[in-house]
Amino acid sequence: MKKEKSIFVCSECGYQTIKLLGRCPNCGKWNTFIEEFYTGLEKFEEEIMPPKKLTEIEFEDTPRIKTKIEEFDRVLGGGVVKKSYILVAGEPGVGKSTLLLTVAGNLAKNGYKVLYISGEESQNQIKMRAKRLGIESDGIYLLTSSEINSIKNGLEKINPDFVIVDSIQTVYNPEIPTIPGSVTQVRENANFFMKYTKTNDCSTFLVGHITKEGVVAGPKILEHIVDSVIYFEGDIRTNLRILRCFKNRFGSTNEIGVFSMEENGLKEIPDASSIFIQDIERNIPGRTIFPTIEGTRTILVEIEGLVTPTYYGIPRRTVSGVDYNRVSLIIAVLEKKLKFNFNTFDVYVNVGGGLKVNEVGCDLAVAVSCVSSLKDIPPIKKSVIIGEIGLTGEIRGVENINLRLKECARLGIERAIIPEKNKKDVSVSQIEIIPVKFLNEAIKISLSI
Ligand code: TYD
Ligand code: MG
Repeated sequence: MKKEKSIFVCSECGYQTIKLLGRCPNCGKWNTFIEEFYTGLEKFEEEIMPPKKLTEIEFEDTPRIKTKIEEFDRVLGGGVVKKSYILVAGEPGVGKSTLLLTVAGNLAKNGYKVLYISGEESQNQIKMRAKRLGIESDGIYLLTSSEINSIKNGLEKINPDFVIVDSIQTVYNPEIPTIPGSVTQVRENANFFMKYTKTNDCSTFLVGHITKEGVVAGPKILEHIVDSVIYFEGDIRTNLRILRCFKNRFGSTNEIGVFSMEENGLKEIPDASSIFIQDIERNIPGRTIFPTIEGTRTILVEIEGLVTPTYYGIPRRTVSGVDYNRVSLIIAVLEKKLKFNFNTFDVYVNVGGGLKVNEVGCDLAVAVSCVSSLKDIPPIKKSVIIGEIGLTGEIRGVENINLRLKECARLGIERAIIPEKNKKDVSVSQIEIIPVKFLNEAIKISLSI
């Protein structure tokens, strides 16, 4: 019997080696190599193309097709670009199939032909979901197969305007001697759909699973192949779902879409600014409110801090929703500059509602939440706290101060502690502005100590 050769492939970046390595020399990640069996060298199709002058290339405007799901269109930058290749990634059960079937329903209603390829569910299951979502369009074709040849056949027969592949991990090419979901299968099949998308007049959505443990072939490999990557996030025990753009060749990546998973499908939440805060009337020790900017929107979030005595020698820092290293830095500044003692306390920092805040402007809110919990003193009522903390304890300015303050005023916030540097730009008058230069001032004012 012919002995199969084995190679090791990095599940993060696709780097191949014949020996198992602990650390990938290409992307630098640890323990990402998995063994795959293969029989021959990869074949590359060679295409000879002469270089062209940039000025000679005719510019084609990229038309966008609206799915009429505004939250979805916004995340993509105003609709789906023709011939674009989009990965929708998320944990199992978050609602990827529901989202894309809704997208398919809307597109079909507008006269487009959609081919929904599912290797995960039976026709009956999908029909049942479509009924639940109230989709009754003529333009959706269903193909419940994961074998690449029958998919090719289906594509040829239907010649769709949109292709939905649910999920790329189930697509299987029998000519590749590895199991479905393995790095080689995922990469090769994803490449097939890319070529199909670019050579036909269609757009393709791929569904990609990610698991907390890290999958066999994670969407990391796919990220390089597709035009756009959108993550569908949310705690599946709650209704809230967030669509976040991670990579976008046709627009910005900082927009989010907010949905609520209801009995009969996903409901859009266009006015998302207040859904992440519970109650601004009450002031609670360990909770501050921070207006974060997500794309063109301001969303008020609760930054929670909990500081409790350590029972196991080394104090723990548990962080969710903000950057872990940033929290360590803030605690270090609080210890060094303000002489607060956290070394015998565990610190937990969380952003309410499962939102992730990706900006340093929330530093001050994190610091005040932690000190507020440590001292058990609530921050001043109906206030927001904004600012980045420098290593010396000075407060740095943030961007879009008026956009943030306007939304705060609309939602009933009465005072805002902001960086001194932003004071001159403020044009919102409905809020009392308290400018601060240093961290100690901010703590003193916000906690009235
Ligand atoms: P699903 O789209 O199958 O998730 P994924 O494809 O990401 O694995 O949906 C997951 C959950 O959503 C499922 O537990 C049931 C729930 N759900 C609703 O709450 N309302 C609905 O209308 C639908 C279709 C699903
Ligand atoms: Mg699914």
